[in-house]
Amino acid sequence: MKGVVLAGGSGTRLQPLTNITNKHLLPIFDRPMISWAIEAIVNAGITEIMLVTGGTHAGEFLRLLGNGHASGIDRLSYAYQDRPGGIAEALGLAERFVGDDPTLVMLADNIVENSIRPMVDNFLKDPVGARIILSKVDDPVHLKHLGVPRLDESGKVTEIVEKPSDPPSSFCVTGIYMYDPSVFQIIKTLEPSGRGELEITDVNNYFVNQGTMAYDILDGFWGDAGESIDAYWSVNDFVRFNSANK
Ligand code: G1P
Repeated sequence: MKGVVLAGGSGTRLQPLTNITNKHLLPIFDRPMISWAIEAIVNAGITEIMLVTGGTHAGEFLRLLGNGHASGIDRLSYAYQDRPGGIAEALGLAERFVGDDPTLVMLADNIVENSIRPMVDNFLKDPVGARIILSKVDDPVHLKHLGVPRLDESGKVTEIVEKPSDPPSSFCVTGIYMYDPSVFQIIKTLEPSGRGELEITDVNNYFVNQGTMAYDILDGFWGDAGESIDAYWSVNDFVRFNSANK
């Protein structure tokens, strides 16, 4: 399985901090934010990783990670996104790197308390379609800033709603996704959303409609440190006192 870590975007929600650096290089406790996502992927047993970034601070990722060996990566590739065109567009840049393998995609601002290895193992038992990871979010206001699944009585995902004004469940879709290689054909069919981006939620809804979307529910803490300055500090506090990737 290949890993793709996405560290692009303009980070507008964390301005002015992101005027001087890439969001994913800001510190979370004692290291740059992206280091936690890399550790999560490597701990899941994935050692061939592509990092996709963009903007004016891309070179700093090379300074941080180099060839990746010190982070436990066998083969680290880099891709450059010319403009902040969305998560799905960024993933599209990894097509040739991923080839015919299944892939784990992780947004570099997502941080998990516990290992995602059990979820990766679940997908690898039958790596067809897609598998997402949900996290319970009790605050409905928080859910409005995320992707939220609608679930039927049997617990099946029937739709994912991005930034819902009326959240259809109390779970969010975390920024950790697993796909079979058909994902790259689906990305080519997408149209930009209202915010001018190719949305990963549109990719996921394709698999939902095909009936090939599975999910796991995370236990323990999950946070998106790029969601707002308050989220950034609450993730910092959590990691400082509890660590992550246990
Ligand atoms: C993205 C996804 C959203 C998901 C979130 C998790 O949101 O679009 O569905 O819940 O990541 O971090 P964005 O950070 O682009 O607003």
